Amino acid sequence: MLKGKKIIIGITASIAAYKIPFVVRLLIKAGAEVQIIMTPATKDFVTPLTLSALTDKPVLTEFFDEKDGSWTSHIDLGIWADLLLMAPVSANTLAKMATGVADNLLLTTYLSARCPIFFAPAMDLDMYKHPTTTANIDKLKSLGYKLIKPVEGELASGLRGCGRLEEPENIVAEIEKYFDQNACFSGKKVLITAGPTYEAIDPVRYIGNHSSGKMGFEIARQFAREGAKVELVTGPTSLSIEEENINLSRVTSAEEMYEECNTKFPESDIAVMAAAVSDFTPLQQYNKKVKKSEGLTSIGLKSTKDILASMGEVKKDDQILVGFALETDDEQENARNKLNNKNLDVIVLNSLSDKGAGFGYDTNKVTILTKNGDEIVFGLKPKTEVALDIISVIKKISNQ
Ligand code: CTP
Repeated sequence: MLKGKKIIIGITASIAAYKIPFVVRLLIKAGAEVQIIMTPATKDFVTPLTLSALTDKPVLTEFFDEKDGSWTSHIDLGIWADLLLMAPVSANTLAKMATGVADNLLLTTYLSARCPIFFAPAMDLDMYKHPTTTANIDKLKSLGYKLIKPVEGELASGLRGCGRLEEPENIVAEIEKYFDQNACFSGKKVLITAGPTYEAIDPVRYIGNHSSGKMGFEIARQFAREGAKVELVTGPTSLSIEEENINLSRVTSAEEMYEECNTKFPESDIAVMAAAVSDFTPLQQYNKKVKKSEGLTSIGLKSTKDILASMGEVKKDDQILVGFALETDDEQENARNKLNNKNLDVIVLNSLSDKGAGFGYDTNKVTILTKNGDEIVFGLKPKTEVALDIISVIKKISNQ
């Protein structure tokens, strides 16, 4: 369950840093994305070149890059990561972590990280046994950080005792175990729709909309990361996705999307309908391209089937149904009406009034309404984060 996980490894100045390239290789092999941050003195113990070659990312050490004048945001890094592994942690960094000293990029990232933090100390046996070290470790454990204990063996000093960094295989196994245990949707089947639908007028023309499919694809990705088996049904989009737990079905029209969903919904535990399904389709579909000379000046339309509403009609008590609403006026009231009328558990209200939100953008601004009466307003965020917000609300409901 490491596939797609974003992991920061914070390396500090310790001989045991030589083991980190092995940790990186194992994580990358398992499908994780790794970003290395090291303290300045760590460069004497393991080279940034080796680590950037293995991670395919530059190793970060400083706040400022003097060459191009760019600034590295520790806040963004802390938000990006699914897990921060501090390894090896020297006695010095351990003390700083326990007291909140923030005098380098790694420590500021640690302080602003929102993700779980693992720390693996490595030092000489007497340093490890020192009461201040013990107190610092206890403090970090009390903050909820996960200790990867050092092991017994020969130390860099030549002495034998406890203080060796745990072996790379075991460090990676601990991380993997954590993600497996916290995969909230493990064993759950989730149906997601995404993108627009195209309603054919003739073989070359159609009625469609500007939906890019990004929101639905992000939701699919995040559910898969949390262990769900995802059926992603998408209308025409340039996006593609290749993840073990995601089965992608491409459809064109609202009718085709309805057929796919109708088959898949009974087996699903959760359904999230993020597609911008066309509400209308031409009454008549021409088999051949309509020529200009034919003088077609109007197209008769009929309503498509409301996929979401039809699911709401057959929804069982243990299924969770999530819809989207795009409103321009009386937003909250209209969204709540949709939630009630379509028998939904959650509705995600898209705001079109904010710049950067909605169709085609990488960001979105939503309010999430639940059938329990909750109404949570979120700020403008990247769609990856909006997907996480939506999933966290669904998580809460599925645990109720
Ligand atoms: N939806 C659907 N099938 C349709 C139309 C919409 O499943 N034929 C779903 C969308 O995927 C979305 C929700 O219904 O989750 C709301 O879509 P929206 O266009 O906001 O609302 P409508 O119900 O179509 O109502 P209106 O356009 O009148 O606001």
